Amino acid sequence: MGRIPDEIVAEILQKTDIVQVVSEYVNLKKSGKYYFGLCPFHQEDTPSFSVTPDKQIFYCFGCSAGGNVFKFLMLKEGLAFPEAVYAVAQKVAVHIPENYPVDEHYLRKQKKKQQVYSVIEQAAAFFNQCLVSSQGQEARKYLQNRGITRAVMEDFKIGYAPAGWDKLIKQLSTTCGINELEQVGLVIKNQQGTNYYDRFRNRIMLPIFDISGKVVGFGGRSLDDSHPKYLNTPETPYFNKRYLLYGLHLSRAAIREQGFAIVLEGYMDVIACRQFGVENVVASLGTALTKEQVQLLMRYTDEIIIAYDADTAGIQATIRGLDVIQQLGCRVKVLRIPDGLDPDDYMRTKGSEEWKKLIKQTRSLVEFKLEVLSKEVTPTSVAEKIAIIEQVLPNLAAIKSAIEREESIKKVATTVNTSWEVVLSELKKWHHGNAGKVTSSITNISNISNTSNTANIKSLKFQHDQKHRNQAEYLLMGLILGDYELFSLAQKELTMEQFQNKELGMIFKLLVETNCKFKQKPAQIMQYLEENAQQLLGRLISETISGQEQSEKAKILADCIKVMQESTGKKRRAQLLQQLKEAEQRGEKQQVNDLLQELQQLFCPREGERHAGRNKAGLF
Ligand code: GTP
Ligand code: MN
Repeated sequence: MGRIPDEIVAEILQKTDIVQVVSEYVNLKKSGKYYFGLCPFHQEDTPSFSVTPDKQIFYCFGCSAGGNVFKFLMLKEGLAFPEAVYAVAQKVAVHIPENYPVDEHYLRKQKKKQQVYSVIEQAAAFFNQCLVSSQGQEARKYLQNRGITRAVMEDFKIGYAPAGWDKLIKQLSTTCGINELEQVGLVIKNQQGTNYYDRFRNRIMLPIFDISGKVVGFGGRSLDDSHPKYLNTPETPYFNKRYLLYGLHLSRAAIREQGFAIVLEGYMDVIACRQFGVENVVASLGTALTKEQVQLLMRYTDEIIIAYDADTAGIQATIRGLDVIQQLGCRVKVLRIPDGLDPDDYMRTKGSEEWKKLIKQTRSLVEFKLEVLSKEVTPTSVAEKIAIIEQVLPNLAAIKSAIEREESIKKVATTVNTSWEVVLSELKKWHHGNAGKVTSSITNISNISNTSNTANIKSLKFQHDQKHRNQAEYLLMGLILGDYELFSLAQKELTMEQFQNKELGMIFKLLVETNCKFKQKPAQIMQYLEENAQQLLGRLISETISGQEQSEKAKILADCIKVMQESTGKKRRAQLLQQLKEAEQRGEKQQVNDLLQELQQLFCPREGERHAGRNKAGLF
């Protein structure tokens, strides 16, 4: 176990854009110097998660999570620090030399993963060859009949698993062990445990990709009706359906661009949509949409259109699923395709223009629920009306736009045949009952800004008590973090011991030690700090001090330093006086002398030296 050298860590940071990395997880919107999004570390519906590109850090005003890009991956992916460094290094193609082995366990895991995915990749390549070879004739014909072009087949790397029992086993026998093939679900042991056979036989093979476009598993569609239509790769440590969405690696750019994602039911629907130029589509893998899949989508958008066939999954289950999506902070809409068609059929029979029109007619989740609920029972009695209203209250509450919410309230009222005031008052009651649960990040933000540096700059009165001293430390740190020149000034006047706040002291010490170019520095020192200090630094960097003239900032800095120095002086004097008293009582002459000298130093420093230093620093 070694330590990754600091220069390499610094180089990796230099080449990384935290915005890009975080964007893979969070849907970020630019606002001035910052990017904001919904915090991936706590539940919220108002974005309080910020990324500061010029400082290369993230900070959440809601839950105080903060740090640099490594910290982000550590929290998000559960990585250890060196693992996070390796992960980022890979993204930016920085090579970490072999003779700095990081974590044996991690490296072994990485190697194993690479092996596993190489097996899967080889299988995908084989299936692909089979589709274009003579064995694949029937499969090709099938795909052609469904109107799938060569280009789209290539986009999705579609293949064919030949009939027979050991075609894949034979093909990969020289490069892969049978155990490896079994481990990734490509072969199955027979019941006696004596032999192995191919899991996928005579099926069209649809590789399933992770977000980076790596093949991680397969969906195999049967070509004859005597078998179950689809056979999927079984769940393994390397293939976990909860976390995957079919087609996302191809559609994520389009999703971001168009501002919404359409979630379909079938693999073939996704393929057909792309064929018809509708690219912002994904499919879940034969199960109801999971929370993890929604979170995956939310890296790219906050609006999801569900185009499920309501009958298949069971309407109640669908609705519960949709509520979950909305609670995660997404706007959910539901698309009902007329005539019981699936998207694939619909597009083929009506064309993509009609499909696009259909998309524009999606209904909100509240409307969808109202329709379903009022179909089950016609709301005639008061109890029935209340029952319906109650079921949609959480959805009404989750609607962010006031206009949309009002529209929806009216729709609820009409459906249950009551006045909108009644619905509104129920909503208010509901809000009241849930007040504790709804932690508004807005309150959090405004609390912080109230105590923020900017607000305090003018009102800071330099009384020499603890509280003001503390304020001075914060204020000073805020100033020097934003401005290298101010940092240089402070560096000449202060030491870490002069900070009463230990975390601030640590930050200051690291800033001094790594006295290099200021850009990116806060991000670079992050990893050396303890949790508390990291959070503090994240917060300080996120609250920039703006709108102040440089000279004014320098003046404020000088005031802060003065408070800190005098306050330290006062404390030291009290200490010295106490020691002096004790030394006198014990009659230790030498010590009394030393102490007196120190006291003298503290209050009457040799005039020349001190003033020269200050003037040079330009502080006073
Ligand atoms: P086509 O019927 O060829 O158009 O395929 P499709 O992808 O449109 O499938 P369909 O709409 O029938 O089913 C939706 C999804 O449910 C599929 O894409 C699969 O993920 C899953 N699914 C369907 N049938 C089966 C099955 O027999 N077994 C499993 N495991 N999953 C299935
Ligand atoms: Mn279909």
